[in-house]
Amino acid sequence: MRWPAEAVWEQVAPLLPGFTVEVLPEVDSTNTELMRRARAGRIEPVLLVAERQSAGRGRLGRQWQSGDRDALTFSLGLPLAPTDWSGLSLAVGAVIAESLHPEIRLKWPNDLWVGGRKLAGILIETAAVADPGAARYTIVGVGINVATPAGDGYSTPPIGLRELLPEAGPGEALLRIAEPLVATLQAFEQFGFGPFRARFAARDLLADRPVRLSDGTEGTAHGVDERGALLVHTAAGMKAVASAEVSVRPA
Ligand code: BTN
Repeated sequence: MRWPAEAVWEQVAPLLPGFTVEVLPEVDSTNTELMRRARAGRIEPVLLVAERQSAGRGRLGRQWQSGDRDALTFSLGLPLAPTDWSGLSLAVGAVIAESLHPEIRLKWPNDLWVGGRKLAGILIETAAVADPGAARYTIVGVGINVATPAGDGYSTPPIGLRELLPEAGPGEALLRIAEPLVATLQAFEQFGFGPFRARFAARDLLADRPVRLSDGTEGTAHGVDERGALLVHTAAGMKAVASAEVSVRPA
């Protein structure tokens, strides 16, 4: 596959001095690779694309299956120093959805869905840096199905981007996403989640729907607060759910 590495670099480098684009035919996980590099003191801004991941990771210790299917798997690594990290995955989800297609909805806190099926997932991890100021090396991992994956074994039925954009390939998807994603991370670093709240709300899959939290609590989702916590109206009143360890499903 040919990747638009140079075009991505041309768009992003003006925003991010020292930025590079790297494409690997195979790696265990792009997030794991950037975490290894950060631990070895390599904290330059990079976009690392893998054509295949042998041990792709999802949230909550889950696997991210890509196998040999047509998919876009990449991690963007860069030092960031926001005063408040809350809501980062929501801002990232919003800009990716906006870059790809109007029908994509955001399922709090990290997923992109289309019509009841999962299109993409986001895994954000950070590492301490040696000479930090307030910065941490931030790894934004993104996995997007391009072809619709076959078979079962998925907790949520998957959908591929081509069902929305028949001509799309992983390279085109990357070219749409990369520059807006970097600009979003920089805006988030400066202004936090606040400016993204309305953008999240415009695509909020759970809004006004009955939900069940992983601790068993049931209620109705009412959007997110100014820090990106999910607001759930329960029998005991309104609850703001901030923890990334809570999973939410339509009841
Ligand atoms: C999830 O849905 O739980 C998040 C999935 C994130 C998958 C991407 S693929 C690129 C990057 N490398 C990984 O190992 N995971 C993320």
